[in-house]
Amino acid sequence: MTSSTSGYTWAGRFSEPVSTLVKRYTASVEFDRRLWRQDIQGSLAHARMLARQNIISADDLADIERGMQTVAEEIESGAFVWSIDLEDVHLNIEKRLTAIIGDAGKRLHTGRSRNDQVATDIRLYLRDAVDAILQLITAFRTALLDLAEQEAATPMPGFTHLQVAQPVTFGHHLLAYFEMFGRDAERFADCRKRTNRLPLGAAALAGTTYPIDRAYVAEQLGFDAVCENSLDAVSDRDFAIEFCAASALLMTHISRLSEELVLWMNPRVGFIRIADRFCTGSSIMPQKKNPDVPELARGKTGRVNGHLMALLTLMKGQPLAYNKDNQEDKEPLFDAVDTVTDTLRIFADMVPGISVQPEAMRAALTQGFATATDLADYLAKKGLPFRDAHEAVGLAVKRAEQLGIDLPQLPLDELQTFSSLIAEDVYAVLTVEGSLAARSHFGGTAPEQVKAAIARARRLLAAC
Ligand code: ARG
Repeated sequence: MTSSTSGYTWAGRFSEPVSTLVKRYTASVEFDRRLWRQDIQGSLAHARMLARQNIISADDLADIERGMQTVAEEIESGAFVWSIDLEDVHLNIEKRLTAIIGDAGKRLHTGRSRNDQVATDIRLYLRDAVDAILQLITAFRTALLDLAEQEAATPMPGFTHLQVAQPVTFGHHLLAYFEMFGRDAERFADCRKRTNRLPLGAAALAGTTYPIDRAYVAEQLGFDAVCENSLDAVSDRDFAIEFCAASALLMTHISRLSEELVLWMNPRVGFIRIADRFCTGSSIMPQKKNPDVPELARGKTGRVNGHLMALLTLMKGQPLAYNKDNQEDKEPLFDAVDTVTDTLRIFADMVPGISVQPEAMRAALTQGFATATDLADYLAKKGLPFRDAHEAVGLAVKRAEQLGIDLPQLPLDELQTFSSLIAEDVYAVLTVEGSLAARSHFGGTAPEQVKAAIARARRLLAAC
């Protein structure tokens, strides 16, 4: 080996050093050092297995355990010197271990490759990230549920096409998001199952000639199973794609909620206020209070969607087994983890900081003939075919519009000009409360149904 190539552990067959640009282009240590805990954890499990199988000696294992302890302390304290000359987190740690303990450090890599090592590290990392995200989703859903309970009977306009459609309760509206984020939790939990399998033992691609015990390594690391096929084990990144897909959909839900928060905070709508600590002002317009958090969350959805696309594209052309392309899996994955984690954390904090303005919601309800369907149902229940009822109510709405009033303000004799079936009891269905109470079936918006749904949701969360 010439001195010019000596930086790399693999430089034996090379006759010239890589250029500085290539070194920078191919190194991953700047971002994969985030995996250092998992890398050490995986190495220790591997070393214990090697010793138990008599592939390395008990003394070597003791040295490795001691040395890794020092390495971990150095990294933790910031004393560890990361070097891009050593490419990635794996080689940085191995080189330092060897500097501390000598030959035993060089025996650690027996029967493994960085290909199965990195796949193991990412899975360990992602498993923890998923567990943290699942907890945050539960905290966020709990906050939504608390607000829904408080507002279980608060009427607001339900919209279709962003036009006032029918009355709903704000609690009911919030429970829709509770459902969305529940499905997100299911998806993350499902992705965790396929993440939690051990690639180590696949070595570079074909397995190894040493008498390894993969089940023992899996057991030490808390993996549910061992990857079945060595080629698949080193090349599979489906779990990362699944994670990004679950993340993209979660962010899409966050983005929908954000859009509503922004809308509700607009002074012309004024349904809610968000605590000042989640808003910012303008440097020029002194009156402004801007909903920056929901806006940013809506914006950040794009980058997570982008990460999903990046990983799908990363994998689409790859032949078996490992290719260096795979090193590009980390930055999108890490950023997806960070974005989802921070967003959930901030939303779980922000929801209790929402103050509801019920008068504004009620005022909006009196402007869009929100109980028109109730009147049509009323006539249909009295025997008028629904299509005819629809037409009669359409005419009544037109009349109310001319008079500048809402349907319940039309006097009875005026209403009766549209159908002789209309009687005094019509006012019970034309009111917001009547409209809400009438939708009293499983999944409906009647306050008693909303309360029942909240009780079910509480039991569900308690089991989480
Ligand atoms: N830094 C590499 C990665 O992230 C580790 C595996 C490298 N393997 C190799 N044969 N070059 O994928």
